[in-house]
Amino acid sequence: MAQKSLVAPSILAGDHADLISSAQIVADSGAEWIHLDIMDGHFVPNLTFGPQMLGDLRKHGCELFFDTHLMLSRPDLYVEAFAEQGADLISIHVEPDYDVAATLEKIRALGCQNGIVLNPKTPASAVSRFLSEVDLVLVMTVQPGFGGQKFQEQQLSKIKEISDARAANGFDFRLEVDGGVDRKTGLQCREAGADTFVAGSAFFKAPEKANFVCAF
Ligand code: DX5
Ligand code: ZN
Repeated sequence: MAQKSLVAPSILAGDHADLISSAQIVADSGAEWIHLDIMDGHFVPNLTFGPQMLGDLRKHGCELFFDTHLMLSRPDLYVEAFAEQGADLISIHVEPDYDVAATLEKIRALGCQNGIVLNPKTPASAVSRFLSEVDLVLVMTVQPGFGGQKFQEQQLSKIKEISDARAANGFDFRLEVDGGVDRKTGLQCREAGADTFVAGSAFFKAPEKANFVCAF
């Protein structure tokens, strides 16, 4: 079944000294989701914020759907904390060395939706065995770590491959893309089968944010 298109603006491109105002900009645009990039300085060469940031956004009244992207070497050690602080969906990478299947299961047991993420160099086959167990598959269209990078067009065939596998098996996970997504590259991803579009720089730079979130 086709999923409705959703844009998940990434607060990574917002003001880190005033994240609640950045979240408010997202809410005011009409977006239902907000993408939260959690980086550990180990799996990726950058640092962002931790579980308390989610809890504090909730305390300040943020009701957006928290699409939480963990770029951590040991996501299994942190899923509980993010669930407790208000995550709605928690996505974990397939590349690091930990028990991916058990962690996906744990995320659901904590009452959240789960997602599996692939880096640009990781083939679709690396996630095949998880496709029946996830609510979302996230295809990175840049090497994770930083916003503002150039969209990697060669990821389009991977998006299509996963989209085709979803249709062939009757799965209903969301297919999300993240990195360098703007109106043009987002539409390319949609044609390849994506339905969920993370946008950091392009969203925060867009003069008409309400139009931007409807453009996909
Ligand atoms: C990259 C992050 C992205 C980032 C995307 O490591 O996972 O979510 O915010 O930013 P843009 O849209 O600027 O490429
Ligand atoms: Zn992300």
